[in-house]
Amino acid sequence: MILTQKIMRIVLLGPPGSGKGTQAALLRDQLGVAHISTGVLLREAVEQQTELGKKAKSYMDAGELVPDDLVLGLIEERLGQPDVARGFILDGYPRNLSQAEALDSVLERIEQPVDAAVSVTVNESEIVDRLSRRAIEEGRSDDTEEVIRNRMRVYAEQTAPVAGHYARRGQLREVDGMGSVEEVNQRLLDTLENPDAG
Ligand code: AP5
Repeated sequence: MILTQKIMRIVLLGPPGSGKGTQAALLRDQLGVAHISTGVLLREAVEQQTELGKKAKSYMDAGELVPDDLVLGLIEERLGQPDVARGFILDGYPRNLSQAEALDSVLERIEQPVDAAVSVTVNESEIVDRLSRRAIEEGRSDDTEEVIRNRMRVYAEQTAPVAGHYARRGQLREVDGMGSVEEVNQRLLDTLENPDAG
């Protein structure tokens, strides 16, 4: 498979259950870049009962955003690691406009600006289906019906406007997230390899 050398610093946007984590893990292997998920980093902190994890837990259990300053520390530390020089996929960050601005500053400082933001779109009933299935299979603590609804509300109010931040710079692309994992992955690869096509 021919893989893009053009776009290696990617922000993946999309509502809960749109497949960001699934697709970012595939793209990490296909593009040879780092996969950075603030959700994963935060869940590890909760699991390890670090000071950050203890502060983050109640927000995560309620489906609210963890305060920006806590998440910024985490992402700055991760972006400081050597593997980031090969490129990265950010999954779950930035989550609001102030995180988007903070990210711009960090990336400017380390001279690794974002090449593209890709927004993965999925309809609401598919989100509920996927996350309800995961609730049964994995028992993630924020996959209850009430918390899923709040995560969707928080996404619509706080995270959806982040797409505009990248659209204003001509860096936003949309990919249909409906269909099989393989189909969505192929659409993402096509979009990243042909940035001017769509
Ligand atoms: P986070 O972990 O980022 O959760 P999320 O955005 O709600 O995303 P999900 O993991 O639910 O979905 P996804 O889009 O990654 O889809 P996935 O591939 O997993 O955040 C959790 C919490 O942490 C937040 O609520 C917040 O409290 C906190 N947080 C994180 N980042 C933060 C930040 N920057 N600032 C502040 N707080 C932050 O897929 C979902 C399911 O669908 C899986 O079971 C998967 O197998 C399945 N699936 C995937 N693709 C398909 C497909 N094509 N067809 C069928 N099933 C599929």
